[in-house]
Amino acid sequence: MTKILILNGPNLNLLGKRDPDIYGHETLDDIKASCQTAAEKINATIDFRQSNHEGELVEWIQQAIDNIDALIINAAAYTHTSIAIHDALQMLSCPIIEVHLSNPQEREKFRHFSYITPLATEIISGKKGRGYTQAIENIKKYTKNLK
Ligand code: DQA
Repeated sequence: MTKILILNGPNLNLLGKRDPDIYGHETLDDIKASCQTAAEKINATIDFRQSNHEGELVEWIQQAIDNIDALIINAAAYTHTSIAIHDALQMLSCPIIEVHLSNPQEREKFRHFSYITPLATEIISGKKGRGYTQAIENIKKYTKNLK
């Protein structure tokens, strides 16, 4: 089975309530359920996590080294600030798909720079929750042992 780790950064636990015009009406649990269904279709398993703490995300990335086949990450605000997450991601040898619900490029200037992008195999933004399932479907392109 192909193992996909899906990491979510700060404030994404409040999806559904948080600026639905920007982020959509789905909760993080709704997105997790859609990811589960999408993963089953490609014979993959998902480990779906969220943290409001930068260090916890760094630890999860470190634990994933040599243990996963692909990473999907929405680092939320840490996208724009975290050299620590960038450095941890650099130690992964698997494909990394950067996902954003909104399109940060079309928002405030402080959201235009991403520390994840230089390490990302692919970036999916502006598709709300659908971006996550799109990312799972796209992993087929990068991983040999998928249906
Ligand atoms: C986000 C975009 C970030 O700029 C923001 O800080 C988030 C969510 C997105 O999914 O659109 O928290 O990553």
